[in-house]
Amino acid sequence: MNSPTVITSLLVCLTLFLAGGCDKAASENIAEKTNSTFLQLAKDRFSVRYYAKTPVEQEKIDAILEAARVAPTAKNLQPFHIYVLKSAEAISKINKLSRCAYEAPVVFIVCYDKSKAWVSPFDASDNSGVMDASIVGTHMMLEASEQGLGSCWVKFFNPKEVTAAFDIPGNLTPSFLLDVGYALKGAAPSKMHFAKREVSDFTTYK
Ligand SMILES: Cc1cc2nc3c(=O)[nH]c(=O)nc-3n(C[C@H](O)[C@H](O)[C@H](O)COP(=O)(O)O)c2cc1C
Repeated sequence: MNSPTVITSLLVCLTLFLAGGCDKAASENIAEKTNSTFLQLAKDRFSVRYYAKTPVEQEKIDAILEAARVAPTAKNLQPFHIYVLKSAEAISKINKLSRCAYEAPVVFIVCYDKSKAWVSPFDASDNSGVMDASIVGTHMMLEASEQGLGSCWVKFFNPKEVTAAFDIPGNLTPSFLLDVGYALKGAAPSKMHFAKREVSDFTTYK
């Protein structure tokens, strides 16, 4: 960046700072500077807790599952299994088991198989199942955004109840739910969405 550009940026930032908007402008600048559509997608996503009744097209469900398929996993062991709940019966069942299914038209139960996950040679009690499932879920969540769909990652459920209700075999642990659907008109990010720490607050350079 040359010096007139730096001075202009500083002046813009100072003006925005005085108007109370510097942080937002600065973070938007990072997305612009890197020309990153990914960063913009990541910033635009928020947890949706109100869904339209509109069904989700099968092609969009397929794209979400394709995003799951290509996710990295420890040693490429791919120890995950995904239940796609979309029938009226399954959706009704999951809403009885978790108040956080939010009547979404599609709910994925993302499970991992601890017998197939990578085990750390440094600690036999440590396996990659939760990490693998979480990366799979993150791919799915962001692909849902890419498809114009809302989503919410949900941990508020009893895994034993979900296992029994959907006949999930004992080798699989339901790790989390991912609610997906078209956001109800007017659905907005919660306050929590904006309460994010600054990079400097969670970073240590050595
Ligand atoms: C591991 C995990 C568990 C979560 N569990 C729930 C949940 O049970 N119910 C819910 O409404 N939201 C849940 N969320 C969503 C978070 O509350 C939300 O991501 C956070 O408040 C930030 O808001 P945002 O997603 O709109 O940016 C969960 C998110 C994560 C990553």
